Amino acid sequence: MDRIPVIFDGDPGHDDAIAWMLAKASPLLDIRAVTSVCGNQTIEKTTYNAMRICTLLGIDAPIAMGKPAPLMAPPMNAPSVHGQSGLDGPKLPEPSMPLCELRSVELMAKVLRKSEDPVTIVATGPQTNVAALLLAHPELKSKIARISFMGGGIAHGNWTPAAEFNILVDPEAADIVMKSGIPITMSGLDVTEKALIYPADFERVRAVGNEVARVVADWLEFFYEFHRRLGYPGAPLHDPVAVVSLIRPDLLETKALCVQIETKGEYCRGATIGHDRAPANARVNLGIDRDGFADLLVEAVRAYGEARS
Ligand code: BDR
Ligand code: CA
Repeated sequence: MDRIPVIFDGDPGHDDAIAWMLAKASPLLDIRAVTSVCGNQTIEKTTYNAMRICTLLGIDAPIAMGKPAPLMAPPMNAPSVHGQSGLDGPKLPEPSMPLCELRSVELMAKVLRKSEDPVTIVATGPQTNVAALLLAHPELKSKIARISFMGGGIAHGNWTPAAEFNILVDPEAADIVMKSGIPITMSGLDVTEKALIYPADFERVRAVGNEVARVVADWLEFFYEFHRRLGYPGAPLHDPVAVVSLIRPDLLETKALCVQIETKGEYCRGATIGHDRAPANARVNLGIDRDGFADLLVEAVRAYGEARS
């Protein structure tokens, strides 16, 4: 079976970390590189988190540090959701690997050039690195099979009424990506706020009993606490949906839409406008089989081994 080659670009982040956990557990994906981007926290913190997550999960792909700021806008972080470290909660192992000497855009370019098959990019943070790659290396577009990203929301935003965090942080980057002509899958709030993992599921994860299970259960509890105060009945696992889209598309409802990014609006900057008045540029995930997703999560954690006492 040919595995799908993937590059992970994210700003971990509890849900980014769980997305990578799902990916590493899947026999369908071949992780070729991991790149950090500033978003949930500063680039130094998200890079350190990326290295600690990869150490925990046994991801041995090269890890590179991404852009320290959005293309044009000033940086914006989300400590209220992910804590001061960007990944507060359980203690994690210190990085067991060196940081790649290349920066993210050059590592992505190297992986694309070297790969015989086109590579899928999974972007779970602001799209700064991906847009910078497209600007610096337009000749490599044909080596990108698809960009599967978490971001936006056709119906509503979360950071503002109109805009979701990842797109709001760097709307200019998202605009470049959406206009690139590369096949795109968008998993926005429309679907990710239905990807709810309930406290009862946290216990199913914890009961698996291995080290990854314990850490993921603690991440879920930490991530849920912020959302519980807002009235959510569970933790909306935004970023993992961008991985589900690759490994279990049968769990998702999808619609082809034209998605345009508002870069100028006073109240609507960062909004993702989805419609069918122009040719579609994205497959947009809109619904998910929640129970199937929860089962997938528990099974993924099981792939990290039997319980150790
Ligand atoms: C997105 O924002 C971040 O805080 C999460 O990691 C996710 O990528 C949800 O709006
Ligand atoms: Ca993220």
